[in-house]
Amino acid sequence: MTSDNDRRRGLLARLRGRPVARSRGRRRLGAAVRLLAALMLAGGAYTVFAPGVQAQDNPPLTGAAAEGKALFDVSCVTCHGRNAQGVEGRGPSLIGVGAASVEFQVGTGRMPMARQEAQAQRKPELFTDEQTRQLAQYIQELGGGPVVPEGANLHEDGNIAAGGELFRINCSQCHAFGGGGGALSSGKYAPSLRPATDRQIYAAMLSGPQNMPVFGDNQITPEQKADIIAYIQQTLKHDQDPGGFNLGRYGPSTEGLAIFLVGIVALVFTSLWIAGKS
Ligand code: HEC
Ligand code: HEC
Repeated sequence: MTSDNDRRRGLLARLRGRPVARSRGRRRLGAAVRLLAALMLAGGAYTVFAPGVQAQDNPPLTGAAAEGKALFDVSCVTCHGRNAQGVEGRGPSLIGVGAASVEFQVGTGRMPMARQEAQAQRKPELFTDEQTRQLAQYIQELGGGPVVPEGANLHEDGNIAAGGELFRINCSQCHAFGGGGGALSSGKYAPSLRPATDRQIYAAMLSGPQNMPVFGDNQITPEQKADIIAYIQQTLKHDQDPGGFNLGRYGPSTEGLAIFLVGIVALVFTSLWIAGKS
């Protein structure tokens, strides 16, 4: 019994004594060192495996994109910001709009915008095709987004009849049946499609400028886009107006109005003429 109690007391004394305290302190120190090591390891792993953080500050650009960035820094930063993130009240962010949007905006001369207005106008383009491609490449590498397929002729395999049907369903409510364009609300308008190239029509569908909806490839497939472009390029632009005067190609209501006005005037003069004779 006594020997048992002695042993227990001795154990307690050892637990309470200095050697125990020292080992607890050592254990704490060891834990702190391990924690520090773990933190450093985690930090190191993060910097190694999260290169996106560095890429945003300093994206590795290809040659064409670097040329594009140089042009961008001169002509576009004032409105679109240093990394194309947009400037409040001047221009929207271009992150994710893709090469298609740049090709459309710069290729039709809408950008660089000359002044703030309801809608950027088509005007003589400021940049060569080469420079436009470089600007587009820069925005593409910065944020990704839709791209127009290669080639100048994008309607080779297009079916004109199918394109006409798609055009009347998807485009004519804004661009009119003859593609001549028309007014929208708030001083905006859908422009004439006559000056547009294959690539610009394709880019317009992919990027949906202003009030125009985006027609992504899941809504209108690339084959259907070729059909629509074929219809615009080969039918709308070559229509010969067999009836003579085209009345702005606004469709049946203008024709009805014209016939009505001409008819009324003719009737009034006829009745005046009859009254004058009698
Ligand atoms: C004076 C200001 C201004 C300048 C300079 C300017 N932009 Fe813009 N940009 C705008 C505004 C405002 C819009 C939106 C207008 C609109 O949609 O009609 C816009 C729209 C765009 C869009 C369409 C974005 C989208 O959502 O699809 C692109 C692409 C673009 N700009 C590229 C450029 C490029 C490239 C340059 C330089 C060559 C440039 N812009 C210079 C003001 C400017
Ligand atoms: C809700 C109205 C609306 C619909 C629907 C619409 N668009 Fe547009 N479209 C516009 C507007 C608005 C613009 C002018 C955008 C700008 O100036 O920034 C435009 C511009 C364009 C342009 C550029 C013309 C130029 O200046 O060279 C083309 C090409 C075009 N649209 C093709 C189409 C096609 C093809 C369809 C059908 C698949 C279509 N649009 C459907 C409103 C519309």
